[in-house]
Amino acid sequence: MPEHDVLIIGAGLAGQRAALAAAQAGASVAIMSKVHPVRSHSVAAAGGINAAISVDDDWHSHAYDTVKGSDYLGDQDAIEIMCSEAPQEVMDLEHMGVTFHRNEEGEMDLRAFGGASMKRTAYVADITGQALLHVLYEQLMKHHETVARYEEWFATSLLLGEDGLCCGAIAREVRSGHMEAFTAKNVILACGGAGQAYKPTTNGLIVTGDGIAMAYRAGAPLMDMEMVQYHPTTLVETGILITEGARGEGAHLLNAAGERFMEKSAPNKMELASRDVVSRAEQIEIDEGRGVGPDGAGIFLDVSVVPRKRTLEALREIVNLGRDFAGVDITREPIMIRPGQHYIMGGVKTDVDGRTPIEGLYAAGEVACVSVHGGNRLGANSLLDTLIFGRRAGEHAAARAASMAMPGVDANAGLRRDAARIDAILARDRDGGGSASPRRVSEIKSELGETMNRHVAVFRNEQGLQSALETIGRLKEEAERAYVDDRGTVFNQDVLGAIELDFMIDCAETTVVAAIERKESRGAQYRTDFPERNDEQWLKHIDISLGGDGGAGRPHITYSPVTITQWQPEERKY
Ligand code: FUM
Repeated sequence: MPEHDVLIIGAGLAGQRAALAAAQAGASVAIMSKVHPVRSHSVAAAGGINAAISVDDDWHSHAYDTVKGSDYLGDQDAIEIMCSEAPQEVMDLEHMGVTFHRNEEGEMDLRAFGGASMKRTAYVADITGQALLHVLYEQLMKHHETVARYEEWFATSLLLGEDGLCCGAIAREVRSGHMEAFTAKNVILACGGAGQAYKPTTNGLIVTGDGIAMAYRAGAPLMDMEMVQYHPTTLVETGILITEGARGEGAHLLNAAGERFMEKSAPNKMELASRDVVSRAEQIEIDEGRGVGPDGAGIFLDVSVVPRKRTLEALREIVNLGRDFAGVDITREPIMIRPGQHYIMGGVKTDVDGRTPIEGLYAAGEVACVSVHGGNRLGANSLLDTLIFGRRAGEHAAARAASMAMPGVDANAGLRRDAARIDAILARDRDGGGSASPRRVSEIKSELGETMNRHVAVFRNEQGLQSALETIGRLKEEAERAYVDDRGTVFNQDVLGAIELDFMIDCAETTVVAAIERKESRGAQYRTDFPERNDEQWLKHIDISLGGDGGAGRPHITYSPVTITQWQPEERKY
């Protein structure tokens, strides 16, 4: 049975940064991912990473922009840490080998991004996540003697000791179907968000809320789950991301009349207001009949106003995406986009060292909620979040490991339970054994995603949210009977899809329960039935844990205060 000081589940930027930090601190590390690490979803991050590195910038200004962008729900102690540590982190990455774009003077170039008061986003064309991920993977190779890599292993649950400590995980090797228990002094969850609970989404097929659901089932509280970000520029048919970097370079948003409608809601920042503001403004244009396209469901993003040479140099990936997925040459004509699900601000509640309330369990990156993004994340703050809090979690877990013995746990019980669960999925009857016909996993997943996109999107109200909750309840029952076609052991993605579906349903349910609870509009949560922000009653986090009220298996709500260090809530003006 493999044993490690620190087991990291997820090998995107947060996971790899945590692994590197823990290895540098002398811990024996394992990093596990259901895909090859450089296929992790961080690879899709496009536009850049924020850091106050220009001479006329200051991390306080970055922190204030982040607090304002969060609609004052972000915890300011965590935001201060993230923004003050950002410049050194970016420098360290450059020294590791990231080829950040440089200007004519040979200095690191910075581009404008939404909600920022100055140019603060370092970038590698529009493939920044890919550039970072490959460099970190190279760095991990240097530590191959102390960092074990379990690539294409799917974690099914966390291992808890009798004293409630987290001491490992159960996983299935995707290639062979072999199940294994991994014991560890600490586990760091770094396996991303839950975007696939929505349809469409900018997120890859692997982003299925695994870490959030595993932590929730182990008893860890989730926080800010109602805060789901819709990115203003996603392709209408497919939900593919068109980077905010395009607007950072000067692209315009236009309605059917050719108007730059952002003038109405953000006359100063225009297209570079924060994402919640821009997505709402677009949705209003669409809903009020000023959208573009055959059914008026889109908005034009006009990149042709950016000099062509600059587009080909700094936005080359979206030139390819526009051509391949929409048949549009964005250097010459506008492309049709609309708001699409992109990111969840909520996740497993942690402190600034990534610790969750379960001893031995850490979380970092999109799976976690520190909360540095509060009600709305600023573009290019997510790469930063993954790296800063990934590193901090890795360092803390390594130090904890150095001070303790390997905890005792009956790992075989967990192993038998998860193996039996998979056998039961494989044995499900295709005709339902006399009861109502079971559905395929993919059908249930589609209905879940479409329901979330209809009722838990840019605009929400009580009726829609209640209807979403009812649907999720039915889908949960259907998921328990859903059948899989593949009954084999080798690369059986079908059975893993059934487990992912359960994870996504937990994430969707907690999102909707929190959105119903928050009776105000703040950040990404806009309630048409409660259109004002209400600081008196709702300047607080909603925490959700499983069955804390004695109703086993039901989401239980508590509240926690927002940490304010220096910025009192004000009206947001852009
Ligand atoms: O638009 C983008 O490039 C996305 C960046 C982000 O979500 O931080």
